[in-house]
Amino acid sequence: MRQRQVIELSEIKRQEEICARIFERVTADGQRPLALVDTYGCQQNEADSEKLRGYLAEMGYGFTQDEFQADVIVVNTCAVREHAEMRVLGNVGALNHSKKARPGQIVAVCGCMVQQQHMAEKIKKSYPVVDLVFGPHELWRFPELLERVQTRHKRVFATEKSDGAVAEGIPLKRDGTVKAWLSVMYGCNNFCTYCIVPYVRGRERSRLPEDILAEARSLVAAGYKDITLLGQNVNSYGKDLACGVDFADLIRMVNDIPGDFRIRFMTSHPKDATEKLFRTMAACEKCCHQLHLPVQSGSDRILKAMNRSYDSEKYLRQVALARQYMPDLVLTTDIIVGFPGETEEDFEATLKLCETVRYDAMFTFIYSKRVGTPAASMPDPYTREEKQRHFDALTELSNRISGEKHAEYEGKTLRVLIDGETGREEYNLSSRTDGGRLVHLKGDPALIGTFADVTITASNTWALYGEIRNSEFGIRN
Ligand code: SAH
Ligand code: SF4
Ligand code: F3S
Repeated sequence: MRQRQVIELSEIKRQEEICARIFERVTADGQRPLALVDTYGCQQNEADSEKLRGYLAEMGYGFTQDEFQADVIVVNTCAVREHAEMRVLGNVGALNHSKKARPGQIVAVCGCMVQQQHMAEKIKKSYPVVDLVFGPHELWRFPELLERVQTRHKRVFATEKSDGAVAEGIPLKRDGTVKAWLSVMYGCNNFCTYCIVPYVRGRERSRLPEDILAEARSLVAAGYKDITLLGQNVNSYGKDLACGVDFADLIRMVNDIPGDFRIRFMTSHPKDATEKLFRTMAACEKCCHQLHLPVQSGSDRILKAMNRSYDSEKYLRQVALARQYMPDLVLTTDIIVGFPGETEEDFEATLKLCETVRYDAMFTFIYSKRVGTPAASMPDPYTREEKQRHFDALTELSNRISGEKHAEYEGKTLRVLIDGETGREEYNLSSRTDGGRLVHLKGDPALIGTFADVTITASNTWALYGEIRNSEFGIRN
């Protein structure tokens, strides 16, 4: 087994010393400098941005959303589809304006997109506004890299190829007070033929159970009510540790932490979602009956070409088993339309599978060619129009089924966690069911962060609407 690379705690301490040094320098004039962190992509990136903000807060920075007010801008990028990259490049290019208006502004671009050498080169050549570029593997030494830019006034590029390491002890500044991300592992070994993630995020590596549990305990103590365990493929958790703890064991260990909170997780690869996992989900009272199980395609031929390591029959068996353990399971998926060579017949198989499974929600994407992946060199004779037609048909099916499933909730009373305000008058609060369905409510904002029983009164494709029956403070609506 490959040696699991760990960043020494002394290295993180050194980064924190650099933070202290930066603090002295940037607050010397008695003013509080401001930073803007802009995040693209998945929850892993959101979790990474909480670390970037943690470091920035230690350096003395406050936070702003306005690029004209920011002294440091960090753009945390995604590479999963071309569209995500185009958005980043457009927005980074536009930072010319804020930098002109605010000389001395530092622009950093980090994350998955710049871990691709051709993208790092492109930024070096065509985006002089960017001062600092670093990939996900260098995030732990962001203070050191930023200091280099600040003191040497030179552009810094840190995107060396790497399998990645595990770094503990990086300070975190979390986005919310009710829901929290908790990374349990990093990287991916699956190499689905269309996907860039394994190239930019490195090999699978798990955090130690004790580190995860310590973080989970501190989240519960701080009052977080909804903890999402994160990984590109959480079912691979522990395989690199050889400590006998797999993902199902980890759920049980988090479940054993005293307190009133929920556990969710993302994402599960169907190739190794086990019966033990479903049994554990059903048995652990804090674990939500929610499963995101990306199928990607309903065609066995395409699944094979995607290197997904399962066929539609195995997938359907897993869904049936999961539902046997959890009849109220909320099931969602990801689907790629227009994978190279996908025919009408392949697409029909996807529609059929979706009709059979009846997902609560589907996230559908048109295939996007990623440089360096095997699928990029597969023949792709179908036109964009044909792919769009398939995409539209699938979206229609997905909306219809979600709408029907949501209508089934009407009249039912469920427990929800109230997690924020909607900004609208009539239904001013948002909440989530155990299954993760969005419920709009009317009530006192003081209820945010509490559980309540609500009766569902109306629904549409995207959300449920409800009335509070009973909250932790009695009824306050
Ligand atoms: N690790 C997760 C997925 C991460 S990427 C998993 O395997 O479940 C999120 C989703 O983006 C994928 O499930 C896939 O549906 C989609 N995706 C990934 N690469 C893509 C590409 N090249 N084109 C279009 N969609 C893609
Ligand atoms: Fe990409 Fe596949 Fe890994 Fe998911 S499992 S991140 S789709 S390579
Ligand atoms: Fe994007 Fe990187 Fe996540 S490519 S989807 S931000 S792992």
